[in-house]
Amino acid sequence: MAKNITIIGASGGIGAAVVDQLSNLASVESILACSRSQTPSTSTKVEYQTIDLTREETIQEAAKRASEIGPQDLVFVTTGFLHNEGIKPEKAIRDLSIGGFEQNFAINTIGPALVAKHFLPIMRKDDKSVFACLSARVGSISDNGLGGWYAYRASKAALNMVLKNLSIEAQRRYKQMIILGLHPGTVNSSLSEPFQGNVSKEKLFTPQFSAEKLLSVIENATIENSGDIIAWDGERIEY
Ligand SMILES: NC(=O)c1ccc[n+]([C@@H]2O[C@H](COP(=O)([O-])OP(=O)(O)OC[C@H]3O[C@@H](n4cnc5c(N)ncnc54)[C@H](OP(=O)(O)O)[C@@H]3O)[C@@H](O)[C@H]2O)c1
Repeated sequence: MAKNITIIGASGGIGAAVVDQLSNLASVESILACSRSQTPSTSTKVEYQTIDLTREETIQEAAKRASEIGPQDLVFVTTGFLHNEGIKPEKAIRDLSIGGFEQNFAINTIGPALVAKHFLPIMRKDDKSVFACLSARVGSISDNGLGGWYAYRASKAALNMVLKNLSIEAQRRYKQMIILGLHPGTVNSSLSEPFQGNVSKEKLFTPQFSAEKLLSVIENATIENSGDIIAWDGERIEY
């Protein structure tokens, strides 16, 4: 596993489980754990940094701190937005709102793109490095059979396009850098909590299970996978 790692979204259900598992690996030397709210770790490898994806200067500051630690082998963006008190995923077109689209795109698309802007230049260039973002299967246009969730689906489809673009640029500039979009499965977290009603017990993963699977996908990824959207079980998801 990579040595120097940055996790953006370290306070989230999946993000916290990823930090926890990585901090127990002997090969991992440092983890820069970034989010707005902090969940202190007992591991001495973990350093916390405040980041707000809607404020680019905080992303820039985090990248500066990461570059002081050393070339980053893995940058994993585990942030995301689906709902809050005022914004819910839309069931039908009557539910669409400017605020809903703005918030979904700000956190799910623009934020990760800005993370790439500031972090790709400080990633390892002389060996394999991975820039991965949590996307979602529902962001796949060809897989969309149910409809609904307009802003979330659109923001994740747009994220997938950003990741594909990054993979093309990275191929030219950083030959060993792999860009990945990952689907974590349906995971028990505050993001999915209101929508777990129809999910069977065996299909609702713990954050720990999902984190383990996602880290295995990252570990096994090769340059041929760059630009792909890959599920927790290694399955490639069509755009
Ligand atoms: N859970 C699932 O079933 C599921 C399924 C498919 C895809 N996903 C994707 O997986 C990712 C993680 O989901 P999760 O279930 O772990 O969600 P979660 O527990 O709600 O975590 C969301 C994370 O995003 C961060 N975040 C939100 N707004 C932010 C902002 N403005 N600036 C910085 N960080 C911000 C939160 O941190 P702070 O609030 O501390 O800033 C938190 O760390 C998301 O992209 C989601 O779309 C999840």
